[in-house]
Amino acid sequence: MDFLDRLGLEHPVVQAGMGGGVATAELAGAVSAAGGLGTIATMPSATFGAQLAAARRRADGRPVAANLLVPFARPAHLRACVQAGAALVVFHGGIGRRWFSDLREAGVLAFSTVGSVEQARAALAAGADGLVVQGAEAGGHLMGDEPLRTLLPRVRGLGTFPVLAAGGVADYRDVVAVLDAGADAAVAGTRFLMTSESRAHPLYKQRVQEATRTVRTMLFGVGWPLAHRVVPNAATDRWLNEAGEAPLWLRGVGRASAPLARVLPLRAGNAMTSRQRVGVPLFGPALPLVGMPAASVDWTALYAGETVRRIDDIVSVRDAVERLTSRSGPSRPSS
Ligand SMILES: Cc1cc2nc3c(=O)[nH]c(=O)nc-3n(C[C@H](O)[C@H](O)[C@H](O)COP(=O)(O)O)c2cc1C
Repeated sequence: MDFLDRLGLEHPVVQAGMGGGVATAELAGAVSAAGGLGTIATMPSATFGAQLAAARRRADGRPVAANLLVPFARPAHLRACVQAGAALVVFHGGIGRRWFSDLREAGVLAFSTVGSVEQARAALAAGADGLVVQGAEAGGHLMGDEPLRTLLPRVRGLGTFPVLAAGGVADYRDVVAVLDAGADAAVAGTRFLMTSESRAHPLYKQRVQEATRTVRTMLFGVGWPLAHRVVPNAATDRWLNEAGEAPLWLRGVGRASAPLARVLPLRAGNAMTSRQRVGVPLFGPALPLVGMPAASVDWTALYAGETVRRIDDIVSVRDAVERLTSRSGPSRPSS
């Protein structure tokens, strides 16, 4: 049985996991209700379970997925996935192997996100049911540095298992291209970040709307030093050279802080955001949400993919799904 049939999906479109509070029940539930697969991503475990359950209610009987960043995943997150009836759990930032058997027992699919053929082989050997193949053009944290165009066919060639393709998906043509290259469905992040249902700060959305380029960096790496793609802001202008590299001493801070993710609760990282300033280069991975001070867009990570060059509006989830699934896009302009 193929991936769409197994989950009962109408469209081969998945909303990417977007952690830190961007993708709550309002966004994920709306994507699933529109026939795609909505995803609740990493947030403190108490909120996570409630958001998953709320997304399922909004989805009106259609499936909802969960996304977990391996260094921040706790047993309570996994229990919530099973209890709330997530159809699929996607891991990122690690294979997620230690959680596979519990999920399998509960009848929940477990996928790992990979950014190279080596990672794909390792995830399959560890027992992943399928893979999210993430190209280097993707927004947010990056598993590798190879573009989707070349990585996807190489991973597809490893065998017959479900493959979801992420990175650079903004419209219908992109979805057709990844399906033609052998993916079972397309994963879109930045397109769904730029919807009215996403909880990204309005100024963050505006910066993405106006952006003409992104930068791959490690700057926002205190607590989670994995490369990430962001829209430039005052912090990147102040601390990065032309190649997107921070000074050597600053990269050392990111590396030294890696164990923090395993011991500190997620809330601690969010609290850190309120103390960040452009001139003090201790930037954690949190992103600016509705309700945060407007100025925080200058010193927090404005995660977005290379599709910022082609995405210049904020639409409803319904319109975003339509643009991804219909050649002609939405019939009426969004209000
Ligand atoms: C705001 C934002 C937050 C993200 N957070 C996560 C996350 O928590 N977990 C994850 O697996 N991927 C995360 N990603 C990466 C996406 O899952 C996906 O790979 C990426 O958005 C695809 O590229 P696109 O933005 O060009 O569509 C994030 C991406 C963005 C833009």
